[in-house]
Amino acid sequence: MGLLKFPLLALLATALPAFAAEDNAALIEQGAYVARAGDCVACHRTVEHGGPEMAGGYVIDSPMGKIISSNITPSKAYGIGDYTEQQLADALRKGINAKGRHLYPAMPYTSYQGMSDQDIHALYVYLQHGVKPVDQPVPETKLAFPFNIRQLMFGWNLVFLDSQGFVPKPGASEQVNRGQYLVDNLAHCGACHTPRNVLMAEDNSQYLAGAKLGGWVAPNITSDKVSGLGDWSEDDLVDFLKNGHLTDKAQAAGGMAEAVENSFRHLSNSDLHAMAAYLRTVPPIRDPQQTERVVREVKPVDMSTLETGQGDQASLADASGTDGARLYNSACSSCHGRDGQGTSDAFYPSLSLNSALNGNQANNLVMAIIAGIDRKGADAAVSMPALGGDLNDAQIAAIANYSLQTFGNPALSVSPADVASMRRGGDAPLLITAMPYLLWGGGLLVLLLMVVLVVWRRRRAQVQALEAKRIALNRRLHSK
Ligand code: HEC
Ligand code: HEC
Ligand code: HEC
Repeated sequence: MGLLKFPLLALLATALPAFAAEDNAALIEQGAYVARAGDCVACHRTVEHGGPEMAGGYVIDSPMGKIISSNITPSKAYGIGDYTEQQLADALRKGINAKGRHLYPAMPYTSYQGMSDQDIHALYVYLQHGVKPVDQPVPETKLAFPFNIRQLMFGWNLVFLDSQGFVPKPGASEQVNRGQYLVDNLAHCGACHTPRNVLMAEDNSQYLAGAKLGGWVAPNITSDKVSGLGDWSEDDLVDFLKNGHLTDKAQAAGGMAEAVENSFRHLSNSDLHAMAAYLRTVPPIRDPQQTERVVREVKPVDMSTLETGQGDQASLADASGTDGARLYNSACSSCHGRDGQGTSDAFYPSLSLNSALNGNQANNLVMAIIAGIDRKGADAAVSMPALGGDLNDAQIAAIANYSLQTFGNPALSVSPADVASMRRGGDAPLLITAMPYLLWGGGLLVLLLMVVLVVWRRRRAQVQALEAKRIALNRRLHSK
C-alpha cells in the first residue's frame, strides 16, 4: 500500500530481484563454462554413460587401486549442498574436502590450485544453483594399506603441491597467459601428458613430454619438431582440440576423445587459440631414442596374394588365424583401405600419416583396435568398432605388426604379451610394483627402530642403576 504512493520505489522493488536473477544467470553460465574447461564431468559422472551430471560414482582405476569420484551435485545429504565457497576453494586448491579429509590427487587439485577467485566463485554459484541435486550416495574408496591412510597426502602435498597460484611467464602476451592458465590450471593437460615420478607426481622436468595412461600413450605435445608438435600450426592445434581430428596427423581416441567431447569442443575460439598459442611456446623436449618421425611412402598393395573379407563382424568370425595381412584386410581395410590410406575426404584416416603408427610407441594403435573410437567433435561424430572382444592378443599383435611394417614405423613391433599388458591398463608404475618390497623394507625399518629402542632403554636402565648405586654410595660416605 505504502509503496504504491512511491511508484519509483515500487519499480525498484520489483526490478532489483530481476537484476539479481539476471546477474545470477550470467554467473551460472560463466560457472558452467569453467566446469567445462576444467572437465569436472570427466570424473564426476556416473558409471554408466548418460547418468545425471556431477552425480559421481565413476571408478578411476589408479595404480593404487580403485578411486571413486564424489557426488558434487548440490545434494545436502550426499553431495556438496552444504559446502561454503571457501570449502570448494579448499577442495580445488588444497585437495581438502569439507570434512577436512585429504583427497587423493586423482582429483587434479595440483592443477586447479592456480584457479582464479573469480572462476571459483562462478563455479560455486553454478554447482549450487545450475546443477540438479542427486540424492544418491557413491561407494566409498577403499585402497589397500598404506594408501588408505589419507594423512599421507599431507606429506605428499608438502613436497608436490605447488600452491603459488597461477604465475604468468615474464614477458608473455595476454593471450599466451590466458592459454597457460587454461592448459595448466583448468584443462589440466599435464595430468595426462606429463610423465609422473616414482611418487606419482608430475615430473616437471618432462613437462608435457608424453606419458603412459592406462594402455594408451598421451603423446609428447611440446614444441619439439620430431617428438612433439613442432610442425603443427596454431590453427592445426585449434582444429584438433575442437574436433579430435587433424587430417594426415592425428586422431583422438581414449581419454583424449573424452576430453574433446566433454570439454574442448565447447570452448570459445579465442580460448582455443590462446591454448594453441601457449603450447607453441612450450620448450621442446625430444625423446632421445627418436631421431625422425617415420613417414612411409605408400606402397602399392599386391592384391593377388590377399584373401579379403568384407571388414564386417561376420567375416571376422572366421578370421581365426594370426596372419596379419589377412586379418587387416578383413577387419580394417573396408574403412582404412587396403593401401592404408583411408578415404580421400580423410573421414577414414590414413594410417601412414598418423601419429598412432609413425610416432615412437605403438600403444595407441593397439588400444584403438581394442577399444575402438566413439567421439563427438564440434563438427561431427566418428566411430570405429572396438575389436578387443573379437580378436585375441596374438591376432591384435599380428594386425598391429602388419600395419606398422606396411604403413607406419617399421622399427616398432608389439608382442601378444604387450597387447595383454595394454589390455590390463599398462604396466604398474614403480611405486606400485615396488610397494611389497617397500613394505617389507618398511617392516625391517620398524624392526630396526624397535631394536634401537630396546637397546637404548636397557642402556638407560643400566645408567640409571649405576647412578642409583653412585648416589647410594655417596650417601653412605656422607653419613659416615
Ligand atoms: C580426473 C578426475 C577428476 C576431475 C577432472 C575432477 N575431479 Fe573432483 N574428484 C575426483 C575424485 C576421484 C574425487 C574423490 C577423491 C578422494 O576420494 O580422495 C574428487 C573429489 C572432489 C571433491 C570433494 C568432494 C567431497 O566432499 O569429498 C570436490 C568438491 C570436487 N572433486 C570438485 C571438482 C570440480 C569442481 C571439478 C572440476 C573443476 C573436479 N572436481 C574435477 C576426480 C576428479
Ligand atoms: C584424460 C587424459 C588427457 C587429457 C586431459 C588431455 N589429453 Fe591430449 N591426449 C591424450 C591421449 C591418450 C592422446 C592419444 C590419443 C590417440 O592417439 O588416440 C592424446 C593426444 C593428444 C594430441 C595428439 C598428439 C599426437 O601427436 O597425436 C594432442 C595435440 C593433445 N592430446 C593435446 C592436448 C591438450 C592441449 C590438452 C589440454 C588442453 C590435452 N591434450 C589433454 C590424453 C589426454
Ligand atoms: C567402420 C570403419 C573402421 C574400421 C573397420 C576400422 N577403423 Fe580405424 N578408424 C576409423 C575411424 C572413423 C577413425 C577415427 C577418425 C577420426 O578420428 O576422425 C579411425 C582411427 C583409427 C586409428 C587412429 C587412432 C588413434 O588413436 O590415433 C588407427 C590407428 C586405426 N583406426 C586403425 C585401425 C585398424 C588397425 C583397424 C582394423 C583392426 C581399423 N582401424 C578398423 C574407422 C574404422
